Amino acid sequence: MNQTIEDLKTRRSIRKFKDEQISDEELKTILEAGTYAPTGRGLQSPKIVVIQNPETIKEFSVWNRSYFPMEMPEDMDPFYGAPTLLIVLADSEVPTWKEDGSSVLAVLVNAAHAIGIGSCWIHRAYDEFSSKKGKELLKEWGIPESYEGVGHVVLGHPDMEAPEPLARKEDYIHYVD
Ligand SMILES: Cc1cc2nc3c(=O)[nH]c(=O)nc-3n(C[C@H](O)[C@H](O)[C@H](O)COP(=O)(O)O)c2cc1C
Repeated sequence: MNQTIEDLKTRRSIRKFKDEQISDEELKTILEAGTYAPTGRGLQSPKIVVIQNPETIKEFSVWNRSYFPMEMPEDMDPFYGAPTLLIVLADSEVPTWKEDGSSVLAVLVNAAHAIGIGSCWIHRAYDEFSSKKGKELLKEWGIPESYEGVGHVVLGHPDMEAPEPLARKEDYIHYVD
């Protein structure tokens, strides 16, 4: 099978990571691939924020957990102990910002898998960055307040076997004449 197709089919969400950080070269490869994701009118509306400071990731983990729709145990880490956290934001002044951000997220997780790095797409970035605290953070980072959160990607060396994928639903593909 073509290697790209094989990689797209074998990528799975990884939810247990080794402590060891990914290399700068691996990170750069994944980020660069993300910047080549298709975006509406080629406007490249997203930005990818990179966080590797363990203390900062911990703070974001607590913040992310606060937006869970149900009560979560105090020790539940929504980022699964991953040593690298990416946050994809996109400029809401661009009509396709949500799609653009999702496009980048999909490329990031697949690029990670293609070079043997585990990843998981994590939700609730919109809740975070539409809040007062989120807007203050954007200001601190020098990012315009029109940016909204689309999603996170956690990255690291997998400390688990990739699970089997669920069977694909039978009516996923719908042909019409
Ligand atoms: C929009 C979106 C939000 C997601 N949010 C989370 C999340 O918050 N936590 C998590 O563990 N996985 C999250 N995932 C990963 C999905 O649960 C996962 O892709 C799905 O169960 C299929 O498994 P696979 O990625 O191994 O094929 C998210 C995926 C998408 C596309």
